[in-house]
Amino acid sequence: MSVIKHKSRHSGPVVTISWNTQLDVRSRVDVGVGARRRLPAILGQMGAGKKVLMIAQPYMAAHWFSEIMSTLTSDEYQVSTLEVPDGEACKSTETLLRVWEDLQDRGFDRKDTVVALGGGAVSDLAGFVASTYLRGLNFVSIPTTLLAQVDAAIGGKTAINLPSGKNLAGTFYFPKAVLVDPEILSTLAPRQFVSGLSEMIKYALIEETVGLNTGYDPGPKPLLDLMEKNFNSAFAYDNPLLPGLISSCIKIKLSVVGKDPQELGLRRCLNLGHTIGHAVENVSQYKLTHGEAVSIGLAFALRASVLKKKIDKESLKRVEALLKKLGLPMAIPDDLPKDKLVKAIGFDKKRQGKSLKFILPHTRLGLVDFEANMPLSEVADML
Ligand SMILES: NC(=O)c1ccc[n+]([C@@H]2O[C@H](COP(=O)([O-])OP(=O)(O)OC[C@H]3O[C@@H](n4cnc5c(N)ncnc54)[C@H](O)[C@@H]3O)[C@@H](O)[C@H]2O)c1
Repeated sequence: MSVIKHKSRHSGPVVTISWNTQLDVRSRVDVGVGARRRLPAILGQMGAGKKVLMIAQPYMAAHWFSEIMSTLTSDEYQVSTLEVPDGEACKSTETLLRVWEDLQDRGFDRKDTVVALGGGAVSDLAGFVASTYLRGLNFVSIPTTLLAQVDAAIGGKTAINLPSGKNLAGTFYFPKAVLVDPEILSTLAPRQFVSGLSEMIKYALIEETVGLNTGYDPGPKPLLDLMEKNFNSAFAYDNPLLPGLISSCIKIKLSVVGKDPQELGLRRCLNLGHTIGHAVENVSQYKLTHGEAVSIGLAFALRASVLKKKIDKESLKRVEALLKKLGLPMAIPDDLPKDKLVKAIGFDKKRQGKSLKFILPHTRLGLVDFEANMPLSEVADML
């Protein structure tokens, strides 16, 4: 896979990142204010069929459906919309069946297109639908949360939940295009926006390792420096630096996924902060957002690195100061039972016997050791 290299962080027009997925499908991510308006041009370039189904949750359906649909003319496309339940509820087998049936009722064929307009929950569902109906329809994603723009809609993983657990059924399926428009974040709740910033800080903390192991070019200034200088409680969707920062995070993810699609090594670094993060998120019964849980996980990983003398205390303090400035949590809430956390950590996919592959920052911020083994008992002692 090749990801176009970049030298500067832009704040201007829409930038296109083109790449070949490991499935030899050409995909593109367009980032910038107004990217959502590229939908008609992109469908045209894809030679897409006439039918388009746009899937969204209630808020996005009420506030954004008509604007985005109006970009598609009725003599060229038959656009229909489908509203699915809010939050994780849309990733259910019931909703999946409803969408499949809707596609059948409308007579969709393989050239027709499913468009996801929503956060990670909608892009996971819509991607799963698009990959399975008739063994694959055209798929375009318009991610509407910051977390989905830098993570969930990037990398080709789709999923639905089963009654027994989250993301238990899934496929790898790449959208033909992802349209990342920061303006769409204007209606996003501040808590969800900050949650996305936490995931972006994770990318900054792995940036140098990704640069050393892939074709990713970190550019003139470390992402972390830019974030420290600009992230604060007033940093919002309309900050001119945001499109450039989002692009860098996407390039980091695509570079890593391209190098290690099966998560045999390097891809583990994307999980920095996530071993503890997933456990905290799960045991809190999703009262903490994903980004808040990742923030707790990042602080934990840095503390573990300091204890192991892999990184100095100053680095820990720098990251804690950044998370604090954004109001992100760093400590595991007292009301989360330790035994449940240890059990949840034990379920982590990176567990190997009594040890975990734990991603640890080392030497300086930006570098991580993604091969470190940490005994589960040592992790438990630190909780
Ligand atoms: N496939 C992957 O690689 C991947 C990676 C990370 C997370 N995920 C999945 O992503 C999901 C979480 O995604 P998320 O954090 O984006 O949350 P989400 O999709 O659940 O959205 C959070 C809330 O924000 C609302 N919302 C979304 N965009 C909005 C906007 N622009 N304005 C107003 N409200 C808006 C939604 O209606 C919802 O209530 C989880 O299901 C997780 O499993 C997938």
